[in-house]
Amino acid sequence: MYAGTAEVMARALWENGTGIVHTTDPLGGDRCPQIIENWPQELQRLTRFYALNSMDFFHHLDRQRVTLDLVLVDGNHDFEFALFDLQMSARLLRPGGIVIMDNAEQTGPFKASQHFLANNREWCELGSAVASHARSAPFDSARASIRWTSFVVLQAPNHIPVGEDLRSWGQVRTKSAYFDGIRLELPAQRTSGWLHYQALLRAFQDDGAIPEYKAVGKLRLEVDRSGTVVHPFDGPLRFAEGAQYTYEIDLAWEPDTGCPSLALLTAPTPL
Ligand SMILES: C[S@@+](CC[C@H](N)C(=O)[O-])C[C@H]1O[C@@H](n2cnc3c(N)ncnc32)[C@H](O)[C@@H]1O
Repeated sequence: MYAGTAEVMARALWENGTGIVHTTDPLGGDRCPQIIENWPQELQRLTRFYALNSMDFFHHLDRQRVTLDLVLVDGNHDFEFALFDLQMSARLLRPGGIVIMDNAEQTGPFKASQHFLANNREWCELGSAVASHARSAPFDSARASIRWTSFVVLQAPNHIPVGEDLRSWGQVRTKSAYFDGIRLELPAQRTSGWLHYQALLRAFQDDGAIPEYKAVGKLRLEVDRSGTVVHPFDGPLRFAEGAQYTYEIDLAWEPDTGCPSLALLTAPTPL
């Protein structure tokens, strides 16, 4: 709003000697650049300001393939907006990263945190505001992960879990007209089952047509150590050169009885 929190974060990054703060305010296009211009040069260099709403902001970061370590969500506090912000933060966050939801005492951010944790069991709250929520006190104004703050603090798992729930990393722009298979980087773990995939290659042609090729299949995995899995498709997906392309990889894990989710180190990549 007045870039105050962004300045605190920029100072912390300067102290750390590494990192960039990306900050947005759709109503701050006139106000915030003037404020930021008065900061020390060292802090300005570490700060990227955008006058975008959070949907355009996250879309921009996603296209730039920015990976986030720490996110403060403090925009539109209505439930639907706060949940979107949290879900996009999670999508761009590195494993083990942190999302801070302000304001825990408000219904929108708190309910978004509840919904998110219920649907993402490998995530945890660093605190117990959500776990200790009592139906006898649904509007407890003091609830927070950290006492005397208004934050719900959420931490991503150290690996990317793939369970029975469909998982997609969305469309990723690529220069390649070829998509021949998928590569998975696995951490050490013990699990087995079938990994189902749907892989798409889309061409955005100059004439406006958007043809797509699709490969749907499954592979058997019995994992007891870290490693790389390379899986070529039966039929490679290949366009002629000369258009813009995106690939998309969707996964779902069908574990053997009693086996846990499949953990990935990174998002799957195309061959
Ligand atoms: C409570 S203030 C944030 C204060 C800020 N964290 C600070 O400490 O200075 C909420 C901010 O969210 C912005 N905002 C409102 N709707 C938004 C949206 N859809 N996406 C992103 N920001 C939004 C408002 O313009 C306002 O600057």
